[in-house]
Parts: sequence; C-alpha cells; structure tokens
Amino acid sequence: MIKARIIGTGHYLPERVLTNNDLEHLMDTTDEWIRQRTGILQRHIAADNEAASDLAAHASQNAMKSASISAEEIDFVICATLTPDYFMPSSGCLVQHKIGAKRAGACDINAACSGFIYGLQQADALIRAGVHKTILVAGSEIMTSRLDWTKRDTAVLFGDGSGAVVLRADNGDSGVITTYTASDGGGHDILMVPAGGSAQAITPENINELNRGILMNGRELYKRAVYAFGDAVEQALKRANVRVDEIDLFVPHQANKRIIAAACERIGLPEEKIFLNLDQVANTSAASIPIALDQACAQGRIREGSLVLLAAFGAGLTWGSAVIRW
Ligand code: UT7
Repeated sequence: MIKARIIGTGHYLPERVLTNNDLEHLMDTTDEWIRQRTGILQRHIAADNEAASDLAAHASQNAMKSASISAEEIDFVICATLTPDYFMPSSGCLVQHKIGAKRAGACDINAACSGFIYGLQQADALIRAGVHKTILVAGSEIMTSRLDWTKRDTAVLFGDGSGAVVLRADNGDSGVITTYTASDGGGHDILMVPAGGSAQAITPENINELNRGILMNGRELYKRAVYAFGDAVEQALKRANVRVDEIDLFVPHQANKRIIAAACERIGLPEEKIFLNLDQVANTSAASIPIALDQACAQGRIREGSLVLLAAFGAGLTWGSAVIRW
C-alpha cells in the first residue's frame, strides 16, 4: 500500500530576536507575566524586506537538502499561511518560483494555526491517490505583520518563522498513518483579523478606524483550545489504532505551555514525550509544527521508526491531528 513518507524536514527563523525584556520597553507588560501565562521567553522577527514566501523558500531549501532531492522532483507545493505575501498570487506560487520547482503546481492553505495539519492531510491524500509522488508542504508566517503593537494581549504571543517537509510516495512501513481535521466556524470571532478582507474592506475614509490587527478573546480561546487539543489527540489515536503509551513524541502546535500541559494531562501523556520550543519561538501559527519537527529531528528526538503524534488548533476555529511512523 502506498504511504506518504516524510523524507526531509527544514526550518528557517529570521535573525532578529525580540525578548520579553525588550517588550517590557515597548508596552505595559512583564517578562514574568508572559513566562508564567504562556511559557514564551522570546520570538524571532522578520526583517522589513522578508515576506512569508522568503522564509518558506529558506525552510524548503533546507527540507530539500535533508531529503536529498532537487527542486525539479517536486510535483506540488502547499504553503500553509495566514500571513501571505499578497491576497493574490498565493505565497505557494512564490515559493515554487524561488526554489525553482519548475514542474510543480502550487497553492496556499489558510486554516490558521492548524494550516500545516490541513496541508499535510491534503498532501497525504494526493500521494495515496497516486496523483502526485513528491509534495512539499511549508508553513510560513510573519505574524508580526498582523500585530497591533499597542495591544499587549496579543502582541506578546506571536513570532515569525517557517518550517517545511518533503513527502514522497513509499511502499515501506514508514509514513503518515492517519490525519484528522475539524472546524467550527461558529467560533470565527474568537480569534480573527476583522478588517482588510471583503467583509470590512479598507477605504481611504475608514483606514484609521478599522481593526487590521489580530482580535482575540483569550479566555474563551483557551477553553476551546484545551477541548480541541483533547479531541484532536483522541481522534488521531483512535483512527491510527495506537495507544497513547506507544507514542514516542508528541509535537503540538506551540501556542501556550499551559494549554499543551492541560491537554497532555487529559490524555495521560508524560512530559518527557512532549516537544516544546515555544520558549524560543513563541506562536508561529502554521509554521509552528514543521519548525518543531525539524528541530526534533536535529536533536535526535525523532528517529527512523519513531511514532510521532501532531496536533494543532487555531482560528476558524480549526483543529486537527496526525500520527506518523517516521
Ligand atoms: O494559536 C491560537 C492562538 N491563541 C491562543 O492560543 C491563546 C489562548 N489563550 C491564552 O493563551 C491565554 O488566554 C492568554 C495567554 C492570552 C492570557 O492568559 P490568561 O491567563 O487567560 O489572562 P487573561 O486574559 O485572563 O488576563 C489576565 C490579566 C488581565 O488583567 P486584569 O483584567 O486581571 O486586571 C489582563 O489585562 O492579565 C492582563 N494582561 C496582561 N498583563 C501583562 C493581558 N495581557 C497582558 C500582558 N502583560 N501581555
């Protein structure tokens, strides 16, 4: 049976780092508050001349190198992002061009912080259906481009970065075992960027009144996130027919250490099996899982044969999960 196997991973983080202490000088917040409530210590910030596709191109080149493939071997590029370079064309097309994937189709997926899982599910299905053999899935965000730096409730949470994986059709035991996606648009106003789309178009008259930054009901989102994480993990384990103690590493979307801890307690996953990097990178939305996957591979926490569980939640609301045999 054909499986979609991850044959390479890569990531890229912009050079500039903004620490919690730096934020103390920019707004009414403290390192202690951010640390205790979220687990975040610092975040990377893209340079003025970097767009989402630039970060994704770097991450993708690293993933292609780790997969030992050339760009011409890629059949399709999926870029998961909620901060694309433009409304059109897609950042996927820009990545395709920047890495020289001349034969590839390309598009974006916007499922907010769950975007990488959604992209992975589509790549897995396309490969198993025999439509494509080699697919690049990147998650890339310049979240700071959507932040209102006067709002401490959201400005301290996010960071910029990109991660990518190369999936290839394979007949062996390794590969994506299952994926799960879910949504509840009834919760669309819990986390959103209200203005700038077709619902609230920006005009010269309203440009200073509209909220073009991230609007979030943090407490409500927290509750929903704990539920969504639990559901995502339970569904993935059920569909993959594996027990929680068989999981070697859980790589969750890195939004908040407390949310991850609450979900892991609910499902009975010990701390040493959780991969955390949000202290260093904060919430990079769709980029968070592929960045973490590449770092976990580099640290030897994911090896050939490892059983890896992924789970994410985000705006939409969306959530999802996957179980992968490495
Ligand atoms: O990928 C999905 C992205 N988003 C999330 O996952 C967010 C989910 N929610 C959360 O992670 C948490 O709700 C937050 C970390 C955002 C907030 O933590 P909380 O424990 O729910 O705090 P809160 O919103 O209940 O606020 C507590 C207090 C408030 O002050 P008062 O009303 O008690 O006087 C806030 O004004 O903390 C205040 N506060 C801050 N203080 C210092 C809010 N933001 C800050 C800040 N620095 N940055």
